[in-house]
Amino acid sequence: MEKENIYILGIESSCDDTSAAILCNDQILSNVVADQKIHTEYGGVVPELASRAHQQNIVPVVHQALEKAGIKKEQLNAIAFTRGPGLMGSLLVGTSFAKSLAFGLDIPLIDVNHMQAHILTHFIDEKDHKKPPFPFLAMTISGGHTQIVKVNTHFDMEVLGETIDDAVGEAYDKSGKVLGLGYPAGPEIDRRAQLGNPKAYQFTKPKVDGLNFSFSGLKTNILYFIQREVKANPNFIEENLNDICASIQYTIIGILMAKLKLAVKQTGIKHIAIGGGVSANSSIRKALKDAEQKFGWTSYIPKFEYTTDNAAMIAIVGYLKYLEKDFSDFNVMATARLKI
Ligand code: KG4
Ligand code: ZN
Repeated sequence: MEKENIYILGIESSCDDTSAAILCNDQILSNVVADQKIHTEYGGVVPELASRAHQQNIVPVVHQALEKAGIKKEQLNAIAFTRGPGLMGSLLVGTSFAKSLAFGLDIPLIDVNHMQAHILTHFIDEKDHKKPPFPFLAMTISGGHTQIVKVNTHFDMEVLGETIDDAVGEAYDKSGKVLGLGYPAGPEIDRRAQLGNPKAYQFTKPKVDGLNFSFSGLKTNILYFIQREVKANPNFIEENLNDICASIQYTIIGILMAKLKLAVKQTGIKHIAIGGGVSANSSIRKALKDAEQKFGWTSYIPKFEYTTDNAAMIAIVGYLKYLEKDFSDFNVMATARLKI
């Protein structure tokens, strides 16, 4: 007997991207992302504007995802949505939309933890992408989070360490602000870093015990350094931008890799996956590829479209939960500080 196909609609609205994706079993049929340009003017995400934009985007984005996938909403088996963590106003838009549609179609509703989704994105069936075997280590690096997680099974995860202040993406974005770059600054710093000298300037590395991270001291160190140099030479930033970006990137990636090495040492696990916006970064990708040769690690790096926030990762968690019949109650609430 042929196996029945399972169609899942995933909805992501935790921060400033409205996204909808359709999955057939573990394969992506569509993944539509509407990013919100409005925040660029403010140099960061403005929560109230984000939730308004989600309200405008959500219907057309879901419509487009269905159309691209070539399926009708009546064919859906379940709807998965981001319950948290994220901005409350933004989460509420996705949550209430998902509830109403699932209720209207009389199909199961599945709530998804955004941080678990960044990790489980590796279980999307893709050509040339191998799925990590359990247990593996996952480092989630984004604008809101920095964690090292031991993944025992799809839904049994232990946080081994996390940031005690800023997230690594914030370190990129705040440094970018000091340098007069647009928001988010990560991609631009990464691009310029490849043209500069990573050892031109030295920044202090935080001293945090164990597997926790800290990035706020580095941010302040960069701010004071730039202020001092600009005082001596008003053109300092323009004249040295690539070198500054390369040095910032070298410091940040050094911090991430040192913690990963310690996690491998402590757990003995050498299968390493990364996820979240900063996993698009060229230096972390290269460092992990190099670690395969140098330390015998196996690295799992997501495709670019599954690094920054997207609904495909929400839909794959929906599919995995669907198989376990792990459905949500209709009174499930959006939870801004949801833990793994
Ligand atoms: O996962 P994500 O889309 O949203 C959150 O959940 O936070 O991550 C966004 C973050 C931003 O801070 C952005 O600057 C950073 O990811 N980012 C990068 C790169 N691409 C995006 N950081 C460094 N290098 C990149 N290539
Ligand atoms: Zn994210």
